[in-house]
Amino acid sequence: MSAVIDVVAGARPNFVKVAPLLKAMARGTGGLRARLVHTGQHYDPEMSEVFFRQLGIPRPDVELGVGSGTHGEQTARVLLGFERHLATAAPSSSGVVVVGDVNSTLACALGAVKLGVPVAHVEAGLRSFDRTMPEEINRVLTDSVAELLFVSEPSGEFNLRREGAPEERIRFVGNVMIDSLRQHLSAARATDIVRELGLEARGYALVTLHRPSNVDEEPRLTATIEMLERVARALRVVFPVHPRTRQSLQRFGLLGRAQDNPAFRLTEPLGYWESLGLLDSARLVLTDSGGIQEEATALNIPCLTLRTTTERPITVTDGSNTVIGHELSRVEEIMGEILAGRYKKARAIDGWDGKAAERIVGVLADVWGR
Ligand code: UD1
Repeated sequence: MSAVIDVVAGARPNFVKVAPLLKAMARGTGGLRARLVHTGQHYDPEMSEVFFRQLGIPRPDVELGVGSGTHGEQTARVLLGFERHLATAAPSSSGVVVVGDVNSTLACALGAVKLGVPVAHVEAGLRSFDRTMPEEINRVLTDSVAELLFVSEPSGEFNLRREGAPEERIRFVGNVMIDSLRQHLSAARATDIVRELGLEARGYALVTLHRPSNVDEEPRLTATIEMLERVARALRVVFPVHPRTRQSLQRFGLLGRAQDNPAFRLTEPLGYWESLGLLDSARLVLTDSGGIQEEATALNIPCLTLRTTTERPITVTDGSNTVIGHELSRVEEIMGEILAGRYKKARAIDGWDGKAAERIVGVLADVWGR
């Protein structure tokens, strides 16, 4: 008999992380069988479906269909739906795997432990030490209830030990996001997205923005658009716009201004291949995403993070990332170094070798397998 493991995915970055795990679990190691639960936190086709297709993720076994809402509403709806699933599912669950730091991650971890089902957290121990970020709360709480803490970079082990996590729970396994990157880089390079958008390799800056701290308030978003206008004097600016960001640009009357700038190229959210293909050929990336800091490091593309902190410090110490902080004028200063070829280069990072999912499934088979 196999041990059924519920693997949870809710939002866009989750899909990139569960894909290699599901692939590794499909080999049947330790008699594990994955059951995929899609919470529906992200539901637009370009935020969800395209990722399933490109990453080869099977159709979810369970769809909770929770949609958007306030943090409380969204977390509560996932918790309710997931609890109901665990209580009624046949065969019953031998364990739950959650990834990342989104509301679905916390809600499913909480739902599982309350029913006595053990939880494994992939990407455990990352800390920005900024509790105004919803993701930081999700990380701290998920780690505090998880039985297995799968760590992607050394800071994760350090943070978990400092918080008193028992040593036997902490497992350094490397980075599943980089597993996906390695598996799909040739498909990404085959997309032709750079030419389709009328760009030239290394002739543009890629921009992604969606953090509430950057996009929810008018002064900050206006200052960011002004900064991008200055960047656009030297490089084309390509900006796939997240739904949250589009709503804010519209609300603050900034959408037309960005769309009308001939050096800007605004697009809908892109698929995984297209987005990786654009990153791979960019001169630099300006972002507030967590995953892109890691992907840029793996590809050695200069990354300027439009935040005051990062929960992924290895991308700064060993990678191609710089955390900009409050002063957006630093972007131009560092861009000068990049354009002059004086910017730092990324080093290879331990455990970012394309085999993290295999290592995770090895541990799951030992601990939860039959
Ligand atoms: C969520 C995660 C964030 C992650 C990001 C990646 C939390 C707290 N945040 O933020 O950590 O980096 O996903 O994208 O879990 N919307 C759509 N279509 C969709 C999904 C959302 O239009 O498919 C709109 C809705 O208006 C929604 C808003 O985007 O209210 C925000 O979506 P939500 O899931 O609350 O958070 P994200 O900002 O996407």
